[in-house]
Amino acid sequence: MLSVQNQVVFITGASSGIGSACARIFASAGAKLILAARRWERLQNLAAALHKDFATDVYLLQLDVRDRQAVESAISNLPPSWSDIDILINNAGKSRGLDKLHQGQFQDWEEMIDTNLKGLLYLTRYIVPKMVSRNRGHVVNIGSIAGHYTYPSGNVYCATKAAVKAISEGLKQDLLGTPIRVTSVDPGMVETEFSLVRFHGDTQRASQVYQGLTPLTPDDVADVVFFCVTRPAHVNINQVILMPVDQASPTLIHRRHSN
Ligand SMILES: NC(=O)c1ccc[n+]([C@@H]2O[C@H](COP(=O)([O-])OP(=O)(O)OC[C@H]3O[C@@H](n4cnc5c(N)ncnc54)[C@H](OP(=O)(O)O)[C@@H]3O)[C@@H](O)[C@H]2O)c1
Repeated sequence: MLSVQNQVVFITGASSGIGSACARIFASAGAKLILAARRWERLQNLAAALHKDFATDVYLLQLDVRDRQAVESAISNLPPSWSDIDILINNAGKSRGLDKLHQGQFQDWEEMIDTNLKGLLYLTRYIVPKMVSRNRGHVVNIGSIAGHYTYPSGNVYCATKAAVKAISEGLKQDLLGTPIRVTSVDPGMVETEFSLVRFHGDTQRASQVYQGLTPLTPDDVADVVFFCVTRPAHVNINQVILMPVDQASPTLIHRRHSN
């Protein structure tokens, strides 16, 4: 097993859900963390908790991954002790709306494409060159089962995650001949703020998504990410699909109804 002690791990979307859980598991193993998201107070609270629990060294970035210039400037201005990034976890992402394509909201499409796809590309493009020149690194993209199976009204979200799958495969091919590893971790239902964001803050509609089943937790996903990163250096886990036992595809879900 590879140690992540003192490795610099850059996590996007660390202010919530899967990103926060990844921060915690890597912190518990002694990594140094660069945590990025837009919600500054959330990041500060997380950094304080990680410092208290594990004495973790944390560098915070208030960053909108959709803003290419901001991404470039954040990465090129990292202090020297933080600029050698060993592990990039491209996790920031979202679904917006659940509408038939011909009734979809343009703003929702822009947000999903700009965050899930272009944001992930920007981070990768600005961070991976140094991994190549240092001859070390691991990129983990958080995809989704939505990239494997399109579901009704999932159209644009599914397209962004299918693109993440293609980009992970392409990056693996393009880095052949280097020691840099590329992994895509593709979960089914995970209980986070994901559905709240999808339904624009409608808590009732969001909670219905997980009713009558046991979804994955953010820690379940973080465990898998950590497993992939800590394999011996010659092992590349290309792709992991994980779902709750109560799920077999985006639309095949077993719900236990009480009453
Ligand atoms: N939950 C699921 O069922 C599920 C299933 C499969 C895949 N996924 C994927 O898992 C990843 C994490 O989602 P989650 O479930 O943990 O949802 P979440 O709790 O809503 O967290 C999403 C994170 O992304 C960040 N983010 C969103 N837009 C951003 C932007 N423009 N710039 C920077 N950060 C941004 C958010 O931070 P700020 O709002 O503070 O910026 C937040 O930290 C996403 O890529 C999602 O597609 C989730």
